[in-house]
Amino acid sequence: MKSAIEQRQIQLAQMEIEKYRSIVEADPYRLSYHLMPPVGLMNDPNGFIHWNGAYHVFYQWMPFKTGHGAKFWGHYTSCDLVHWKLEPVALAPSEWFDKNGCYSGSAVDNHGLLTLFYTGNVKDEDGNRHTYQCMAVSENGIDFVKKGVVVTLPDGYTAHFRDPKVWKKDDDWYMIVGAQSESLDGKAVLFRSKNLTQWEYLGAIAGGKQKQLGEFGYMWECPDLFELDGQDVLIVCPQGLQAKGMHYQNVYQAGYFVGRLNYETAEFVHGSFTELDRGFEFYAPQTTLDAKGRRLLIAWMGVPDQDEEKHPTIQQRWIHALTLPRELRLIDGKLHQVPVEELQKLRKNEIAYTNVTVANEEISLEGISGNVIELKFDIHQLEGMIEMQIRNNARLIYHHDERVLTLERKSFVNGLTEKRQCRLEHLLSLHIFLDTSSIEVFVNGGEEVFTARLFPYPSNHSIVIAANGKCIFDITKWNL
Ligand code: FRU
Repeated sequence: MKSAIEQRQIQLAQMEIEKYRSIVEADPYRLSYHLMPPVGLMNDPNGFIHWNGAYHVFYQWMPFKTGHGAKFWGHYTSCDLVHWKLEPVALAPSEWFDKNGCYSGSAVDNHGLLTLFYTGNVKDEDGNRHTYQCMAVSENGIDFVKKGVVVTLPDGYTAHFRDPKVWKKDDDWYMIVGAQSESLDGKAVLFRSKNLTQWEYLGAIAGGKQKQLGEFGYMWECPDLFELDGQDVLIVCPQGLQAKGMHYQNVYQAGYFVGRLNYETAEFVHGSFTELDRGFEFYAPQTTLDAKGRRLLIAWMGVPDQDEEKHPTIQQRWIHALTLPRELRLIDGKLHQVPVEELQKLRKNEIAYTNVTVANEEISLEGISGNVIELKFDIHQLEGMIEMQIRNNARLIYHHDERVLTLERKSFVNGLTEKRQCRLEHLLSLHIFLDTSSIEVFVNGGEEVFTARLFPYPSNHSIVIAANGKCIFDITKWNL
């Protein structure tokens, strides 16, 4: 059973949903097919799992304001990764070990029990932070009972030690935790267990001032480790990287290392760090393996410390959302992300044009417009520059001579134009998902992805294609 304090917290959160439901629902920027909070602030996806035939996505949730604070775990379920149901709150901050927040974590199936691991965030009377890695279990996948602390802070780390991701390898369980060492280096730390309650500390497997990396951030958040196509992939969110050319342009990064983890010696030999997304809002991704054998990823369509008080949706009492679920593939050592195929269920009213030529002109095509749409853009021939203007608010621009792809948008913080870019040898295709206030662009079958929030005039649905030079392409649009 949940404690009386936790039950009370959940009741208060539930009242908050009721109180502001009609305001949130009336927002023209309310997302149509992305996960967003029923009220308040959403950040990291947590506990992503395919369990007993249903997909579960929990999320960091602050029900009482559109800012950060003592987080709850909200909960959505789905049978198909497309249609989601809001479930009762899974975890609320309430006990001595999590009273200032049930922070991020993960889920596993333990002999039929849906078992959550999360960080208990605690601030003492002097304002000092304490961290505990905690467990909670459920028989029915809806009602969770806290089991308390399973891992305490090992020597050598500060209290910035959080976001446990747990998985099974052969007969053992492993947990990877995001950490800051006492020398203020970001690290990923590994533990092993036979029973999920007693954990052996194996040490840091990556991060710090190693030869391979040099200085690489003062804290690593939200690690994830999994096998894909015979390699081990470590995802982390390093904080404190300096922007370098087109790289590391957001306040904090989300990216990965590909390598090999030796589970006996806890050594991870890996290559360099690659960013997962080239857009403005993408952070704290989490993956799971589903019953179809797919490695799926979902992330926060936001970043920390981004002038939350300037986001247009806060008047409507909510902020932030999650990305679409994506399937991961490792191709030539690089992670590719493709939107899950189930999303095709949303397609309505297909409009397609083939072999369209634009040459030193700007065109819009009858029916190729909208605010909640999917677009497929396949290029047959390109000379010079091609550009797509989206709802008079964003532009995707590819300069073939410079081999640079750019996403530009009008900042919702200060109205100025801002951009994110990546190098790209050839632009072959763009697969774009627009929702009322978001864009996800999958480039060349997921070789690069740009994820961002957009806040165009709600009634502006225009899509304009322009070429400086010549481009021949096919384009298909579906309303979603
Ligand atoms: C990442 C993060 C995590 C933490 C959670 C708190 O966005 O800072 O490290 O567990 O959010 O909401």
